[in-house]
Amino acid sequence: MLDFKKEIAELLSKELPDLYLEEIKEMIEVPQDSKMGDYAFPCFKLAKTLRKAPPIIAGEIAEKIKGSDLFEKVEQVNAYVNMFVSKEKLGKDTLSAIIEGGEKYGTSELGKDRTVIVEYSSPNIAKPFHIGHIRSTVIGNSLYKIYQALGFDMVRINHLGDYGTQFGKMICAYRRWGNKEDVEKEPIKTLLDYYTKFHVEAEKDPTLEDEAREIFAKLERGEPEEVELWQWFRDESLKEFSKVYDMLGIEFDSYAGESFYSDKMPRHEKELEDSGLMQESQGAKIVDLEEEGLGVALIKKSDGSSIYITRDIAAAIYRKETYDFYKNIYVVASQQSLHFQQLFTILRKMGYEECADGCVHVPFGLVRLEEGTMSTRHGRVVFLEDVLNKAVEKTREIIAEKNPGAENIDEIAAQVGIGAVVFNELSNNRIKDYTFKWDTVLNFDGETGPYVQYTHARCCSLLKRAGEDVSSKAEALGKSGDVDFNYLSGDAAHELIKLLYTYPDVIVQAAERYEPSLITRHIIDIAQEFNRFYHDEHIITENEDEKTAKIALVLATRNVLRNGLALLGVASPERM
Ligand code: ARG
Repeated sequence: MLDFKKEIAELLSKELPDLYLEEIKEMIEVPQDSKMGDYAFPCFKLAKTLRKAPPIIAGEIAEKIKGSDLFEKVEQVNAYVNMFVSKEKLGKDTLSAIIEGGEKYGTSELGKDRTVIVEYSSPNIAKPFHIGHIRSTVIGNSLYKIYQALGFDMVRINHLGDYGTQFGKMICAYRRWGNKEDVEKEPIKTLLDYYTKFHVEAEKDPTLEDEAREIFAKLERGEPEEVELWQWFRDESLKEFSKVYDMLGIEFDSYAGESFYSDKMPRHEKELEDSGLMQESQGAKIVDLEEEGLGVALIKKSDGSSIYITRDIAAAIYRKETYDFYKNIYVVASQQSLHFQQLFTILRKMGYEECADGCVHVPFGLVRLEEGTMSTRHGRVVFLEDVLNKAVEKTREIIAEKNPGAENIDEIAAQVGIGAVVFNELSNNRIKDYTFKWDTVLNFDGETGPYVQYTHARCCSLLKRAGEDVSSKAEALGKSGDVDFNYLSGDAAHELIKLLYTYPDVIVQAAERYEPSLITRHIIDIAQEFNRFYHDEHIITENEDEKTAKIALVLATRNVLRNGLALLGVASPERM
């Protein structure tokens, strides 16, 4: 596809021999207001070297480049050269790239032969998969798809929280108050009740904490009774988590969780010991990171039991040795930022610089409930499965009301209801805290998933209404760049084409910034611009050439909306 910015930079560089091409390219702007052109070049910086006033320079440049067939019009406005690209050139190139590319439009080979790990979801065994985990799951899944689209080799890891002192508490509680049938009937809710009860009772009787610690130590030593209970909790929990993953269409390549590293820690504890990084402090083992302003990291408790960060040290090194990753991305709440800073610093100090260089913590903000912050200990949680089921149920009601005879209502309600939750999640800038409100999630108007899905379905229905002959002609002529662009020169069509044209760049930016919401935003813009085009123009007209040109644009829009939704992990039904 034609790279307009680069073409323009090359044109300008002929007039500005003192500047590097890259420098010129960086100076080119995209004006907020399209009345100022599609691209603009500011001349302030040139005044010094050229010893002329910026508006004069802008005027001279405008004069020299305006003959190029890249442009429809070039104007000097104050210190700027404002460039209006040839609508035909842009349209031809964009439509043909999109129609030719199909599902591949927007993808590239940027990441060829490099491996990226995305670690996401990572819920804790025997604890609910709550709405707080949806952020990690959904953001991680989207980052996986985004990086994959850029040609990286991908590894998806679910770093299950299947180890740690909480299992001592859980086993302790189960033995005291538990009952096998209840656990089998409703594993996670039941185990959560025990866990909550443990904390209530331990406040009255602190010796319970000691008992739990003792049980965990036995588990670490591999005592069969403890291991058996732990394994049972893990299996039952995974069954529950899988229900949610199936609903969301999410998969993992590895479920190597914390327990996987239990036998890999001694090697690194020895390295820490030998290098003198690890110190004794009140019977425990620590690494002092005060100099780095990161406090002290506890590596081993005084009773000899291992710690979260120690398992993470082993995990990072294991991943480097196993996958030789280019990036190892952790999608984990911002509450754990200090933990990851400590982790990466310790890896560096241990001499694993290359490993540390590739590690990235992608943090995200907290989810609050309207009643306050979520807390597993106090049993104040919203279960993700309930959220998804409720969203599907509500969607079914809306469809049944709007369109009583709708076919496949179950399938569509699932795609739209779950899509609404996922899209909502990815609409927020990830770092911001937000409050989970049913009304916003299930709002089907405005800047939501259902709105984009509906626009996609509208494109599909236009393609059908235009008929097989026109649609295939539009496809063929769109591909070869031979539709009549005079019919696509209106404002809405031109703005829409510009958005479709920049879509591949948005994918790259989303990857660089680990921010799927850039894609969400971009496809909302496309949907809005398309709907403006739909309302401004008569698409299914009598004039065959006009209809063909417009249908080619509808086809291109449909492709990009579908591809964009797929990168978010949202389905695009053809009818709603
Ligand atoms: N299981 C943890 C939690 O739910 C998240 C794990 C994050 N990943 C890691 N490598 N530490 O809070």
